[in-house]
Amino acid sequence: MSTARPSPIRVLDNATIDRIAAGEVIERPASVVKELVENALDAGARNLRIQIREGGLASISVEDDGHGIPQHDLPLACERHATSKIGSAADITRVGTYGFRGEALASIAAVSRLAILSRAEDEEVGGQLALVGGEIERREPAPRNRGTTVTVSDLFFNTPARRKYMGTPAAEQRAIVGIVTTTALACPETRWRLIADGVTLLDLAPVDSLPSRARDVLGPAVMEHMARFEKDEGGLAVAGLASRPTWTRGNRSQQWLFVNRRPIRSAALAQAIAQAYRDVIPAGRHPVALVFLQIPAGEVDVNVHPAKSEVRLLLERSVFALIVGGLRDGLNLRRAGPFEMAGVAGEAGEPGAGATPLAGDPLAAGRGPAGHVGGDRLDRRDELLAGLAEAEHDYLQRHFGGGGATGEGTLFPGARAGTGGGAGGGDRAGGSRGVAEVEGTALGVQGRQVATGSAGPGPALETSAAGEEPALRSAPFWQLHRTYICAQTRGGLVLIDQHNSHERILYNEAQRALAAGAGVPTQQLLFPVHLELSPDQVQAFQTCAAQLERLGFLIQPFGGQSVLVQGIPSSLKNWAAGQLLLDILDDVAETGVGRNAGQDAVLASFACHGAIRAGEILTVPEMQNLVDRLFATDLPLSCPHGRPTLIQFSLEELEKRFGRR
Ligand SMILES: Nc1ncnc2c1ncn2[C@@H]1O[C@H](COP(=O)(O)OP(=O)(O)OP(=O)(O)O)[C@@H](O)[C@H]1O
Ligand SMILES: [Mg+2]
Repeated sequence: MSTARPSPIRVLDNATIDRIAAGEVIERPASVVKELVENALDAGARNLRIQIREGGLASISVEDDGHGIPQHDLPLACERHATSKIGSAADITRVGTYGFRGEALASIAAVSRLAILSRAEDEEVGGQLALVGGEIERREPAPRNRGTTVTVSDLFFNTPARRKYMGTPAAEQRAIVGIVTTTALACPETRWRLIADGVTLLDLAPVDSLPSRARDVLGPAVMEHMARFEKDEGGLAVAGLASRPTWTRGNRSQQWLFVNRRPIRSAALAQAIAQAYRDVIPAGRHPVALVFLQIPAGEVDVNVHPAKSEVRLLLERSVFALIVGGLRDGLNLRRAGPFEMAGVAGEAGEPGAGATPLAGDPLAAGRGPAGHVGGDRLDRRDELLAGLAEAEHDYLQRHFGGGGATGEGTLFPGARAGTGGGAGGGDRAGGSRGVAEVEGTALGVQGRQVATGSAGPGPALETSAAGEEPALRSAPFWQLHRTYICAQTRGGLVLIDQHNSHERILYNEAQRALAAGAGVPTQQLLFPVHLELSPDQVQAFQTCAAQLERLGFLIQPFGGQSVLVQGIPSSLKNWAAGQLLLDILDDVAETGVGRNAGQDAVLASFACHGAIRAGEILTVPEMQNLVDRLFATDLPLSCPHGRPTLIQFSLEELEKRFGRR
């Protein structure tokens, strides 16, 4: 970057300054929408119509019924540092509007063709102003009702490098839907319409409360799982809606944070939400949450981020504690047992279990399912033992107690108590060798261990030592902490991560079925499931419907924002009444995989969300089935994200550590 002789220092011309500044404020079409919408809200708009073409890359127009801009002020509004919202630096500390810098319109104008049509409240006629790359081209009186329309075309036409970095129109459109829904959540009293390429994507009627707006954005089905919370302390207040532990998502795309109604991003405060739920939902799951903070203006610095999407909180620790406390009290999160996976499963069987509609008393609402109260009294060790005993009981019941058909009611439809069939194919290199090792060893020893947990060592030891009891002999697995499977191998032992390995299995099995050209087989649901989608999930569904079908999902659009799921991949047992599908759509929405979501991305998301999770109890046949299927995959040593599926300990290593060598 250095030149031989330094150029003389000079002050840049205004056009260059504006273009550089625009680079910070206007990153993509969604930033334009954000700025224009915030201007409209600052002007007191109650009706907003946003129209975009080609994801906003071709054009964006925002129409409002706010107080308008006086004709003679139109050029000024597009100048840098020209604002009607603050008068001095001191005002920044108590700013109550979204805007305060007087930079947005100038920045947008510098990198686009911009037209403003506006009529102020007390003027007879309106005015119109057109700029190209920040230069005024045309200015004339024009008729209009009170309010303002700003139209931005050819964004970044004069900054080709930036234009090249734009995503596909579909990805940019998703980002715009995200901005609009977020802002709309904070302003329920305003009507919002979003029209993309002539199609109405959103039409949110004005409502009088956050829950009503949230219902329109999230869909009524999700709302059944939400409860209100609120708390104030030391002049700070938090209020909002959050999902009970029985409704979680695979990522944080349905968490919103607002400080004094300004949508913000904050890793620290997202952590506060996570902490509130830490003991009641499994790792990797996230609640749906709308968190509104009310903080005295003097305690917030809103001027720390070019897009105003972050703020600095002087009392961040207190705010953190307030969020954790507010959520825990409001949702009654302290009362549920640790790792309450039963909630997710329970949802399929008994919809709305433990859920009270928002209209009810929010504090009474978060009651955990009755059986979980005991979870408080169990320490971790007891819980583990209880878990093992349960798994063993289940196992014994199934093989000795006149249990039903093998695999009935298990996670894996094909689970068998015997040795894993079909795992002996000789061409699967290390994989098949692993199976042979796991199968061929450990039998007698493990039989003793199984019995130890439930019936005491004596008789069981004899039974298994005799080596004659086939069912007990085929129980060479322990589940540890409801997360890992421990198995003896010929050369030592392996610890298998149940989630990572199941993820690998689902991924590879589906990939194999796709490669064979057939697609993944579908199991028809006895009762089709009706799912309400959020606007960005609808968008995501449109981009990946074909991939989902090849993966074995049978989904029909069902009017408005909903779909009807009639079939799911036959390899799945655990799709948590549709949460799996919503999780995949969230991933597609968040990663923005373009007009046609990549099959691999959808596949990876399917495998990740469809896989059993840490915290789920597995029976011995289920563990057996999982291990067999893992070793039948081509890459058994890591999950599709590259995390290990298993860790091996050699006998040699154990001997060394016990001083035998
Ligand atoms: N839709 C609108 N209705 C009424 N006035 C508007 C509208 N859009 C812009 N203005 C006027 O133009 C001025 C400049 O807008 P601009 O967005 O550039 O700056 P700002 O909103 O004051 O600050 P910021 O750069 O932080 O957004 C505003 O202060 C406001 O007076
Ligand atoms: Mg503004």
